Amino acid sequence: MNERTSLRIARPDDWHLHLRDGEMLKAVLPYTARHFARAIVMPNLSPPVTTTAMAYAYRERILAALPSAMTFTPLMTLYLTDTTDAGDVRAGAKAGLISAVKLYPAGATTNSAHGVRDIERVHGVLETMAEIGLPLLVHGEVVADDVDIFDREAVFIDTVLFPLRERFPSLKIVLEHVTTYQGVDFVMAADGGTAGTITPHHLILNRNAMLVGGMRPHYFCLPVAKREAHRLALRKAATSGDERFFLGTDSAPHGDGAKQSACGCAGIFNAPVALACLAHVFEEDGALDALERFASLNGPKFYALEPNRDTVMLEKSAAPGPFEAQIDVGTDKVTVFDPGFRLCWRVRS
Ligand code: NCD
Ligand code: ZN
Repeated sequence: MNERTSLRIARPDDWHLHLRDGEMLKAVLPYTARHFARAIVMPNLSPPVTTTAMAYAYRERILAALPSAMTFTPLMTLYLTDTTDAGDVRAGAKAGLISAVKLYPAGATTNSAHGVRDIERVHGVLETMAEIGLPLLVHGEVVADDVDIFDREAVFIDTVLFPLRERFPSLKIVLEHVTTYQGVDFVMAADGGTAGTITPHHLILNRNAMLVGGMRPHYFCLPVAKREAHRLALRKAATSGDERFFLGTDSAPHGDGAKQSACGCAGIFNAPVALACLAHVFEEDGALDALERFASLNGPKFYALEPNRDTVMLEKSAAPGPFEAQIDVGTDKVTVFDPGFRLCWRVRS
């Protein structure tokens, strides 16, 4: 059989992205805008984006940072806190500014100190969201000293997510960056209204990749990569083309100084290579035909948006790259995700 070396798909969107702010925003935004038409922008700035007014201002900063020759639509989210005002959420959604609300359990990940401590306190906001069809994006990890970090997603699903879905059956829920087969099962067990995003790196890495033969800080992210059986379940879900799963890169840049430290922070910067990695993964699993659904069609469908009209061309060559190993951000560097294999696919620009 002839090997497929090119693939044209509707332009992808990224349904989970960290763009940061200031100098970092300026440096990383072009890598996303080059390949993706839209992205759901995470609100975990410091301080977090908690109100419609803050989301509006952040959106303006993103658009100001966009090189003039590029087009890109940031889809803004609000960071849910114990004091989020349901009226503000409703107004932001109605104005078309707010695309989703993000639930971070307090203390779960980077800049999540303001997150929700007790889900009961936000029931009023969730009721409003269910009523107006605004999705809740969930960082699905419990934060409890007695729960092992590798079990945090599975325990969250059992103790928080299943009850939440039962309490708000019409609430649209996205389990973000699914890392376990329990997460895949949670999404598949729904009768609609629940979806899951999957990152390129969780399709590629298991926890051995991060820890065997030396600790690799650039493979550390949250939720942390799990056992191989989980990675295989994610591969199956993504490459199936099932409309409940779509791409959220969770591209999360941090300066190398912050990553390569005695207490290195979580986050993988994959925006420059996300699509190339996906093409490799889908090809490996004999599923190139499902790539468009995962990267370009399933997400818009869940968000009740049209897919993008323009297309991108993915091409495979005999030699890998070239890809930048690092990018400059001021005087610091940000390391680009290295999948650990020869990356011969690229997006033709
Ligand atoms: C994210 C970040 O750096 O903002 N880190 C990560 O490991 N994914 C936060 C997050 O989405 O959990
Ligand atoms: Zn994230």
